[in-house]
Amino acid sequence: MSEPILEVTGLNKSFGPVHVLHDVDFTVRAGEVTALVGDNGAGKSTLVKCVAGIHPMDSGIVRFNGDPVSVHGPRDAAKLGIEVVYQDLALADNLDIVQNMFLGRERGGAWLLDEASMEQAARDTLASLSVRTVKSVRTPVSSLSGGQRQTVAIAKAVLWESKVVLLDEPTAALGVAQTRQVLDLVRRLAEQGLGVVLISHNMADVFEVADRIATLYLGRMVAEVPTREVTHGQVVELITAGRSGDLGLARPETATV
Ligand SMILES: Nc1ncnc2c1ncn2[C@@H]1O[C@H](COP(=O)(O)OP(=O)(O)OP(=O)(O)O)[C@@H](O)[C@H]1O
Ligand SMILES: [Mg+2]
Repeated sequence: MSEPILEVTGLNKSFGPVHVLHDVDFTVRAGEVTALVGDNGAGKSTLVKCVAGIHPMDSGIVRFNGDPVSVHGPRDAAKLGIEVVYQDLALADNLDIVQNMFLGRERGGAWLLDEASMEQAARDTLASLSVRTVKSVRTPVSSLSGGQRQTVAIAKAVLWESKVVLLDEPTAALGVAQTRQVLDLVRRLAEQGLGVVLISHNMADVFEVADRIATLYLGRMVAEVPTREVTHGQVVELITAGRSGDLGLARPETATV
């Protein structure tokens, strides 16, 4: 088992009177894909946004490579190498692939950007991920398909040498071929040594690419298990009932003992 690169312990988060995350522990390991599953409203996106510094945590500790860190905003997260790829991709439609990948971190002086070096880096990164469906890195993002946009967003994370990439339902809107492309990419990120978190409602995808499966149920982390030790049915039970046999929440009759 590889080392934890990102560890969250005792995370609580409320929105006003609504307590969304309850004492959540969550571990991301380098070189592994961790699937984060749970029903609609279970708190998956909220967990990711807390880790990414978008929502402040009410309580909890985040460790990066074993050291406690404070993440008070997206910049803190980016500095640590934590990158989030949201479903509603934060790409600028009017810009091309290179401009999107370097947005806010352009190379060159104030008056003259180093276009050639940025273009080459964008091309190299896509090639390193075996992305072949994008014809030119000067294509405006508005003319890309959903899968290609997802690919560019993920490649951006790789370009910036991220250590942890969190993907919030990257395949939800994609067709069969594009889903395949993104799942391959997810695996490749882990093979490059990154810690990858995949939020997905698709059990087939989860079982195909994830090394471990973490299940949130009504804001509680009820199980974090190696994929090979559970069946589809068990994970579905964990998602819908919070437990499955010995896994997950204790049975009500034993919990009170
Ligand atoms: N900004 C917010 N303000 C108030 N409540 C919120 C906010 N964001 C999320 N919530 C609430 O927190 C709970 C968890 O939402 P979250 O988006 O984390 O769920 P999710 O597991 O990602 O669900 P889905 O699978 O539908 O994406 C929901 O009850 C939701 O209404
Ligand atoms: Mg969500």
